[in-house]
Amino acid sequence: MHHTAVKGMHDLLPPDSARWAAVETAARRVFARYGFAEIRTPVVEKSALFVRGLGDASDIVGKEMYTFVDKGDESLTLRPEGTAPVVRAYVEHALYQTDPQAKLFYFSPMFRRERPQKGRYRQFHQIGAELFGTASPQADAEVITLLVRLLESVGVQGAQLELNSLGCAACRPAYQSALRTFLAGVAEALCGDCQRRLHTNPLRVLDCKNPSCQERLGGAPGIAASWCAECRTHFDAVQDALALAGVAFRLNPRIARGLDYYVRTAFEITSDQLGAQSALCGGGRYDGLVRALGGPDVPGVGFGIGMERLMLLLADTQPAPLPPSVFVAALGEAPRRAAWAVIEQLRAADWCVEWDYEDRSLKSQMKRADRLGAVHVVLLGSDELARAEVTVRNMSTKAQVAVPLATVVEHFHQIRNHT
Ligand code: HAM
Repeated sequence: MHHTAVKGMHDLLPPDSARWAAVETAARRVFARYGFAEIRTPVVEKSALFVRGLGDASDIVGKEMYTFVDKGDESLTLRPEGTAPVVRAYVEHALYQTDPQAKLFYFSPMFRRERPQKGRYRQFHQIGAELFGTASPQADAEVITLLVRLLESVGVQGAQLELNSLGCAACRPAYQSALRTFLAGVAEALCGDCQRRLHTNPLRVLDCKNPSCQERLGGAPGIAASWCAECRTHFDAVQDALALAGVAFRLNPRIARGLDYYVRTAFEITSDQLGAQSALCGGGRYDGLVRALGGPDVPGVGFGIGMERLMLLLADTQPAPLPPSVFVAALGEAPRRAAWAVIEQLRAADWCVEWDYEDRSLKSQMKRADRLGAVHVVLLGSDELARAEVTVRNMSTKAQVAVPLATVVEHFHQIRNHT
């Protein structure tokens, strides 16, 4: 029987896995600079967490969740996003008791049953961050600045930061009802999804990707006119802090975000190079969410970067992983036994060592060393073994030296100190 991966879910193979790891290492560095620490939560949560956290009206809860009934008759769901699980952990472990402020990041697989296409998968990965415990606009600006610096540090170019404010519980309802009234007038021209959203979540019509819906939006009431004084002041302060940090952004009143928990600041980073799935990253403020999930009234703000989309952007710029530094070519049984001991000493001294498991000819072993791009080759045949030596060859200069078996590690130590 022929087995294949589940549709929309992919294996990550070398050398791409090394490129991912390099990006994660760079991201960890940036998170450390801003005082964020890592959190890891389970892949599976109780379904109610997402239904309550993301909202019935969201596309994710409505049609994209991988939900199953466990043997204990409990409804469980593969995590479709990272914010609700992190909030759940924050509340469950009462992290707010020691300090309401918590700054957490994660690298996690997410699962959404969407129609797969380039840049859209059913298992994908996010680099995410959540900052709890402050409603200050400075926090929004800092999270966005961190995000921009992270993308810069891994080499993203030409991405566009788009910013909006979705208002708050005080001012959004009036806007929603004005928008609903407007949309009711053009309802027949809207796509099926938007005809439903018109009732459940009219703001979502604003960022529908369907061109015919976009065409109908001319003349729709603008969101900026609806902001209350607090929302306006907050948004001005976010923009001011971003400008001070030298972070470029564009205001886009059509950004609505697909999850119901957002209030005030909402943002996306898009790239033309990504084609139809142009959103590289999304995020915003979610001040009511911690309380909605059973915790205290603690505000939060965060983002999620789509890792696959990020790697699509970096496909040409990421360096290949380093080749092995040493290839050991041993010939014959006794030399192979001696070589194995040396190999382990070299690895213990942090050299990356490859060798041939099959005792093939010298010629084929040298070919393999070449193909792997090894920097040095250690040759050990029966002649060398009889003299208790190895031959060390520098593969780029072709220079060779004889080195006593007992001092091979010492020899490589000197090579390292000279390069
Ligand atoms: P989101 O906008 O749903 O936000 O997802 C964030 C990013 O994940 C997207 O911009 C996109 O790059 C990537 N993404 C989403 N769906 C897929 C997919 N099917 N295939 C590939 N990539 C995908 C959130 O998930 C929020 N939790 C972000 C957040 C954190 N807001 C506050 N804190």
